[in-house]
Amino acid sequence: MVLFGENSGCKIHPVDNSLKIALPKGRLLDEALKFFSPIGIEFPGIKETKKLRVPSSDGAFEALIVRAADVPVYVAYGAADLGIVGKDVLWESADGEDELYELADLGFGSCKLVVAGSQDGPPKFPMWRVATKYPISTEKYFQEQGRPVEIIKLYGSVELAPLTGIADVIVDIVETGTTLKANNLRVFDELKTSSARLVANRVSYKVNSIKMRQLVEQIQEQL
Ligand code: PRP
Repeated sequence: MVLFGENSGCKIHPVDNSLKIALPKGRLLDEALKFFSPIGIEFPGIKETKKLRVPSSDGAFEALIVRAADVPVYVAYGAADLGIVGKDVLWESADGEDELYELADLGFGSCKLVVAGSQDGPPKFPMWRVATKYPISTEKYFQEQGRPVEIIKLYGSVELAPLTGIADVIVDIVETGTTLKANNLRVFDELKTSSARLVANRVSYKVNSIKMRQLVEQIQEQL
């Protein structure tokens, strides 16, 4: 018989009741930390450490630091109970509405998905080459518009595509408008708006419903 105890040589790990929350690296992380701090959720040292799992000061949460596009994956697979993610990531995610509950619109990280291109205006010819990090939203939009397009999937610096001639227009996120302006591009149309969302794993939401509802109430009080 194998005994798991002090004398068996096996370490018993303490039961970890902390809620795991996937936080996106990059621009949303600072805003998420600023948002949580007034409701007493703080992750000391999270900006300095290279560790990817950081406990909250009261031990109630553990942050998992992941790429923004991977937040829905960690939550959908249950490695994280909760996640903070831009709505724009959810538009494009395969781990979308079926696996995740969207618990709250956190209000920060607002941006717009737009069609943009040359200052001369939209191309006059019918078939456009469109560079984007958002191929699903882009395809849907142009289908609704009845315009044939060739979509060129990029992973960043999308504004470079029309400048170098690999695309006629772009579909991209605009937050301050600085990048479009700096590259002499302008908006032709707005598709939809995005902001940061709190999402939960569906099973975890059932198991931890009291804790999660309390969290949502605290969040709503501060919105
Ligand atoms: C995003 C987006 C635009 C820019 C818009 O890129 O794709 O390029 O921000 O922001 P602005 O309107 O405030 O200028 P990001 O900074 O995420 O970098 P990337 O090009 O590497 O994806």
